[in-house]
Amino acid sequence: MDEKVNTMTAQSNNKNSVVYEIYVKSFCDSDGDGLGDLPGITSKLDYLANLGVDYLWLTPFYPSPQRDNGYDVSDYCAVDPRYGTMEDFDELVAAARERGMGIMLDMVLCHTSNQHEWFQRALAGEERYQRYYILRDGKGSMGPGDPGEPPTNWQCVFGGSAWEWEPRLGKWYLHMHDSSQPDVDWANPDVRDEMAGVVRFWKERGVTGFRFDVINLISKPEVIEDVPGDGSACRALVADGPHVHQYLKELVERSGIDGMVTVGEMASTGLENCIRYTNPDEHELGMSFSFHHLKVDYRDGNKWKLMDPDIVQLRRVLREWQEGMQAGGGCNALFWCNHDQPRAITRFGGTGLEGQRGGSWEHVGKMLAICSFAMRGTPYIFQGEELGMTNADYTSIEQFDDVESHNNYRILLEGGSSQEEALRAIQARSRDNGRTPMQWTAGENAGFTCGTPWLAVPANHVRINAEDEVGAAGSMYEFYCELIALRKGSQVLADGTVRFLDTGSGAPKVIAFERVLGSERVVAICSFDSEGCAVDADGLGIAACGDVLLSTHGGIGKLSHGALALRPYEALLIAC
Ligand code: NOJ
Repeated sequence: MDEKVNTMTAQSNNKNSVVYEIYVKSFCDSDGDGLGDLPGITSKLDYLANLGVDYLWLTPFYPSPQRDNGYDVSDYCAVDPRYGTMEDFDELVAAARERGMGIMLDMVLCHTSNQHEWFQRALAGEERYQRYYILRDGKGSMGPGDPGEPPTNWQCVFGGSAWEWEPRLGKWYLHMHDSSQPDVDWANPDVRDEMAGVVRFWKERGVTGFRFDVINLISKPEVIEDVPGDGSACRALVADGPHVHQYLKELVERSGIDGMVTVGEMASTGLENCIRYTNPDEHELGMSFSFHHLKVDYRDGNKWKLMDPDIVQLRRVLREWQEGMQAGGGCNALFWCNHDQPRAITRFGGTGLEGQRGGSWEHVGKMLAICSFAMRGTPYIFQGEELGMTNADYTSIEQFDDVESHNNYRILLEGGSSQEEALRAIQARSRDNGRTPMQWTAGENAGFTCGTPWLAVPANHVRINAEDEVGAAGSMYEFYCELIALRKGSQVLADGTVRFLDTGSGAPKVIAFERVLGSERVVAICSFDSEGCAVDADGLGIAACGDVLLSTHGGIGKLSHGALALRPYEALLIAC
């Protein structure tokens, strides 16, 4: 391993780093089969190095039936031929390292695919492997061969029962996600052994970090029983379960990854647990993803019921997680977008004028970037976010691929929604919004593939694409380059304390906070308001501040006492 990466590994949790998520299937296709692949990523490393990011998180590229786009793994220690070979992987690791970037891999250790050898051997009758999964008799079963009813009323994350009857086992198996993704039983020490071996395998291949998929769901409750209501409450019951910290500590120790860059995806989690997951004294993980700030546009907490984002609630959640993690010595992963989320620029800014310089599209994208990068934690960029990519523009359900979208479309229709209503919900919330092919050029298929893309390319690639943005003064991409450089060079943004500020009653849709380190102070002011508004410069303590380090709109006059007018979606980063 060369010096550059050694240094990065040692500093892995120093909060100066920026992580870039690559959704492998949609990033760059090198062989014309319509799917992104590992050589495609290697071919774009200069683009990524130029952006200034430190780590590339790759979504799963392991052999998989692709029912959940690779999050249904059938072999943990191999490369799916559709994405390349192990040599391609080694080449990517080495080429990234030469450019000063490390590779982070996605570890999907909470469930396997039902095509995984372990599940297949369980089906073939091997008891050792039957003990790898969570198997139960049906409710009211009259004996072997009679399924009865599912063991509990639990609903899986993708909609429908969390239990699947398997006649070859004569049992139901638990799947918190798709029925092709049986959960493994982490209470079984053999399973914990296997999983530590998987992580060690990739560590020894030269990766510098790991992202752990729904890792807070690995410890199931001692007693598995019905939950009140429609069964979806089981997710809160399974989250942050009784032995999760013990299992994580053991995994980290046995795979030798303590101190590496690690992040856990924490579903339906709580602050206290995330502090424990990420406080360095606990020797669990480096940082955690939580999702409460991305539920502020769920009506009644239901993802498929649409409403405008509630910015007062957004501020409350961000404040709780920023100040709360700080108080407990934990660390947040900062993000708006990933492969499971609609594009934030559409979500918080609506549609219209996409790709138009000087329009709300540009301001919303830049405002969100400032807000995220100025907070305490490690910023993540999801591919295309740095270009201002928006939601897919699909107009029929057939254009969507995602299993969750199709399940919920059906559930919405069964629940009485019209086809138009159901489609509107999917258009706004589908995970495919984040999974459309990367927009490299204005040309055919956005330069993603010379074949037929696995998922349709949005029409706005003619205005929003890397070719037009790289090197173009004031573009979203160049703005990101500037912001990343600023963040990486700023001690106060890396290590300063965070405190949310009161913006005054005239600005309920403005989120402002300060970062302080010694005598240095930086204030971020971010307006989520589609109208102009005014904040109180004295209340924010910025009246006598000096430089505007970065802004969405440019053209800020001298700061002074009294009201500071903000234009729609304006954000300022101010040094005091
Ligand atoms: C979270 C991943 O990000 C998502 O894409 C996947 O479907 C589920 N976990 C199940 O692995």
